[in-house]
Amino acid sequence: MRSEVLNAAAKRNLFFSPDALEMVLSNSNPMTFTNTLLATLSESSMFIGKKDIMDFIAGDSTISPERKPIAPKNKRHSDISIVAGTDVTGDSTCEGKINDFAGYFKNRFFALKKMIEKRRDFGASVSISKALTLGRETQIIGIIYEKKETKNGHMTISLEDESGICTVLVSKDSPCSKEMFVNDEVIGVSGKPSSRGDLFIADKIFRPDVPMNRSWVPSDSVSSVAFLSDIHVGSSTFLDKEWDRMIDWLKKKSYDMDLDYLVLPGDVVDGIGIFPGQEDELSIKDIYDQYEKLGEYVKEIPDHIKIVMQPGNHDAVRLAEPQPALNEIFTKGFDSNVILAGNPVNIEIEGRTILSYHGKSIDDWVASVQQLNYDDPISVMREMLTRRHLSPMYGGKTAMAPEKKDYLVVEKVPDIFVSGHVHGAGKMDYRGIKIINASAWQDQTEYQRAHNFNPNPAIMPVVHLGTGITRMMDFTK
Ligand SMILES: [Fe+2]
Ligand SMILES: [Fe+2]
Repeated sequence: MRSEVLNAAAKRNLFFSPDALEMVLSNSNPMTFTNTLLATLSESSMFIGKKDIMDFIAGDSTISPERKPIAPKNKRHSDISIVAGTDVTGDSTCEGKINDFAGYFKNRFFALKKMIEKRRDFGASVSISKALTLGRETQIIGIIYEKKETKNGHMTISLEDESGICTVLVSKDSPCSKEMFVNDEVIGVSGKPSSRGDLFIADKIFRPDVPMNRSWVPSDSVSSVAFLSDIHVGSSTFLDKEWDRMIDWLKKKSYDMDLDYLVLPGDVVDGIGIFPGQEDELSIKDIYDQYEKLGEYVKEIPDHIKIVMQPGNHDAVRLAEPQPALNEIFTKGFDSNVILAGNPVNIEIEGRTILSYHGKSIDDWVASVQQLNYDDPISVMREMLTRRHLSPMYGGKTAMAPEKKDYLVVEKVPDIFVSGHVHGAGKMDYRGIKIINASAWQDQTEYQRAHNFNPNPAIMPVVHLGTGITRMMDFTK
């Protein structure tokens, strides 16, 4: 055998060093090994050393420059990007000064005012100070400073614009008495001043909203996007069996069904110190270890799937919204198919715009509006779209950073609007927009039980980017 191996090499003017020859001969099939090795080696070298064989075994490309490239199955073309100007990461201007807040609300006011003025049924508006002096029907736009119910069941709203403030009276007999108002939202009002000029009497309310005649226009895209919110790695009630079931399903089905994109809208880990006594509900008590474990879970997701990962209120970034992306000190071990983004953010996938917001403000919506509740987060999200703002109420449970620009304004009408946070699962079509609440991978905790919080976990919504068909994949069984 020794001479056969040496002869095969000599025919190609190649010579083994003694230790390299020993390595070849120790192989279970020395001739096959030799032939493959000789065919792979570059012609520039004359002597084959032990290192050449080690490199060959490890698949090092330097000894085989002519090796034909093999197109891996996961190198599918993907078309995904974070929309410039919608992610605060690296662009925060917030210094926390009083002036910052004035600038922040001014930005919100003008952005939303422009949207109301664009409505065909609205027309031109006048400033609040002028409207009170006109003595006739007119239209104003302002930001709601506060709202009160009067003894007689009417509603008064303090409405402010750059010219001043006025009290808007919404009579209990008027058609707009059924409207829901929240503090710091921007509304248009048509009506007229009272004879004394101290009130503006409303007869119709206008919101920025989404165009009424909008619908999902099918495209030739064949891909799908899936959503996994509120993974809560590190929680003692993390649903590992359900998670594994979902990963198995992705491994078996995602490639053939063109499921190429995955969005994780925050609370990717359970965090530490988020609420009193949380340490008793953690299986991983160190924040770095939680993210490391998450990295291991994410590695299991097939490589052809591009992943967008955002933070939520349980993650290790500033709590104030808009939140920047997770820092690399937590994510350095993550796969390269993970795109880290802030919260909220617009993601463009194959021509579709996805607005992804963790959903912390749902707490404030539910606390402020009697008709809204935690069991129906989809309706809360529709109210956000109507007002074109994800979190209007300042000073509630959602901390806000006064950036120069209000990132929580819904500037562009999305095709898909996704949130998590309340661990519910649901979908709705609102004027062509797929509204989705993207479940959770954590079962009910003691803390949630005590607060009467009932999750609907282990469900993965999947939206076909061409047809818009949305399926709720249930991994509970
Ligand atoms: Fe959560
Ligand atoms: Fe959350």
